[in-house]
This record gives sequence, structure tokens and C-alpha cells, in this order.
Amino acid sequence: MRTILVLNTKGGSGKTTVATNIAGYFASAGKQVALADFDPQRSSLDWLAARSEAFAPITGIDAVNNAVRTPQDTEYLILDAPAGTHGAELEKLVKRAQTMVIPVAPSPVDIRAAVHFLDELRGLRQSVTTNVKIATIANRVRENGVRTGELEDYLYDQRQLDGHKLPFLASLRAHSNYLRAAERGLSIFEFAPAATEHDREQWLPLVRWLKSSRSVP
Ligand SMILES: Nc1ncnc2c1ncn2[C@@H]1O[C@H](COP(=O)(O)OP(=O)(O)OP(=O)(O)O)[C@@H](O)[C@H]1O
Ligand SMILES: [Mg+2]
Repeated sequence: MRTILVLNTKGGSGKTTVATNIAGYFASAGKQVALADFDPQRSSLDWLAARSEAFAPITGIDAVNNAVRTPQDTEYLILDAPAGTHGAELEKLVKRAQTMVIPVAPSPVDIRAAVHFLDELRGLRQSVTTNVKIATIANRVRENGVRTGELEDYLYDQRQLDGHKLPFLASLRAHSNYLRAAERGLSIFEFAPAATEHDREQWLPLVRWLKSSRSVP
């Protein structure tokens, strides 16, 4: 079973959007998917509750108490983390995953928070960080925006503790497609194919990475 964690300590960076879209992507590709919501806000479970039975099923797991029981045939387990996860809680979540995706939004406050968060990650015990593959993505970007450029430059330059580049894989535009799909419990891979074509293109490098051995330790 592949376990993919979506985490950034900053609230509203796009964790739930990215986690639910990853879940929808793999489910619509015929995979057995479970989505574990660690956030008491239960946004991922709300998303799932809106999902019609006409679409590929995803198993929802309320993981607020940290217990995750997945059906035996689960192929992909997606973890949606709450904002403000630090210290021991952060370490516990990272330990559960083989792959971690960090969405960052392009505002000065979000970028500054990302600087601290990536430092905190690099400060985790080596036994934790060597067992997980991490990538960043920019989310809710305004294409050609000044802040977007600043964020992309920053993420592009990030390195892991071992000096290797921290992959920066995608810039996802801010678009109502995400809101309209989420209203129905869908990912952009399952919604309005013509209107979401550009969004799905932006996801391609991230999807390719998630499907490749590069995202597995
Ligand atoms: N690419 C996007 N385009 C448009 N809206 C977006 C995009 N990504 C996220 N949003 C919206 O921004 C808000 C915050 O996103 P989301 O809930 O995914 O963040 P989060 O990191 O999970 O937040 P929290 O820290 O509260 O859990 C939501 O209303 C979401 O629909
Ligand atoms: Mg969330």
C-alpha cells in the first residue's frame, strides 16, 4: 500500500484540495483508494460525503484520533493533515508516509511560513526523513503574478538535508474549477473535462512523480 501525506503547517495552503484531488485521480484510474482525514474540521470527509455513487468509490477514514484502519485491498492511502502540525505530531505523521506533498500558496505570509516549515522538516530526526520522499507544489497561483514568481523561485531552490534538490513539481492555478468540483465531491480529473484540461495539465508532473519509483524511498 502506498501512503501519501499532504501536509503544510500553514492553514489554507491547499492540503485538502490536493489530498482529495490525488484521491480522486487514483480512484478514477481504477485504484482502491482510502482517504484519511486527520483534521477535526473534517473537510476531506465532507468532500467525500458530497460524492455521488456514480463515481469511483473512495473509503473515508476519520483519523482525528490517529487510528487508521484501511480496507485490506487498499492500494493508495491519502492522508490529509491539519494545519498547525508541529513537533512530535509532525514526526508521527511523516513516519506514516512514504511520500509527502507540500502545497504552498503564493502570499508573503505563506512563503515565510513555508521557510520555517521546511526548516522544521529538515530538523526532524534522520531516521524519519530518510524514509520519506518529499516534493513541493505551488497552489492557488495567479499565473504571471509577482508573488507566484517569488514562490516558484524559492521552492525551486530548496534542498533536502543530504544536499539533493527538493523536487518542486507543479504550480496549480487558482481557479473556480477546484471549488465547483469539490462541491460535488469530485477531483478535477472527474469533472468538466473541457474546462479542466489546463488544470489537469498542470497536475501532470506531480501525477507522474507519484506514479514513479522516484516518490518511493
Ligand atoms: N487551486 C485552487 N484554486 C481555487 N481555490 C482553491 C485552490 N486550492 C484551494 N482552494 C480553496 O482555498 C481554500 C483553502 O484550501 P484547502 O481547504 O484545500 O486548504 P487546507 O490547507 O486544507 O486548509 P486547512 O489548513 O484549513 O485544512 C478552500 O476554500 C479551497 O477550496
Ligand atoms: Mg484542510
